Amino acid sequence: MTSSQNLASPSHSAQKPSQASIQASIQGLIDAHKSIPGALLPLLHAIQDHLGYIPPAAVGDIAKGLNLSRAEVHGVITYYHFFRSEAPGQHVVQVCRAEACQACGAEELMALAEKTLGCASHSTTVSGSVTLEPVYCLGMCASSPAIQVDDKMHARVTPHKLTQLLRQLEASA
Ligand code: FES
Repeated sequence: MTSSQNLASPSHSAQKPSQASIQASIQGLIDAHKSIPGALLPLLHAIQDHLGYIPPAAVGDIAKGLNLSRAEVHGVITYYHFFRSEAPGQHVVQVCRAEACQACGAEELMALAEKTLGCASHSTTVSGSVTLEPVYCLGMCASSPAIQVDDKMHARVTPHKLTQLLRQLEASA
């Protein structure tokens, strides 16, 4: 799996889905994947694409549906940084921290994002407007440093451009 796969946040409506509808969605995805060989990763991607995260409460159903142990499912979810166990904010900002971007100022961009948003990497602003995450290569190494905001990639990001983007996100939330 590359970190550029399916990294976009899902589109979130203002209304939160009910627990019953979340469970039904997950069960539907389990049913759709369970006959596929090596279904765990595709299923986890599908759940995160749909909900924005993988609810910890779903681990048991996923394990049962794929005939795996809960520990196996939990191990895969926690192994990959990509998978979230909590719902993200309205927008997801991902700052690439892989080698090419690091060489072009990615660490400074992450520090600036943390300061501007008032939240650490891997967390969400108090308002719930933005979740900040690191990623490890967005496939835009030739245009480093790169970030992704929801579905959109941004190349050669300067501190000024990042500040503008973050302010726009907070204002639109
Ligand atoms: S290292 Fe950042 S896009 Fe590849």
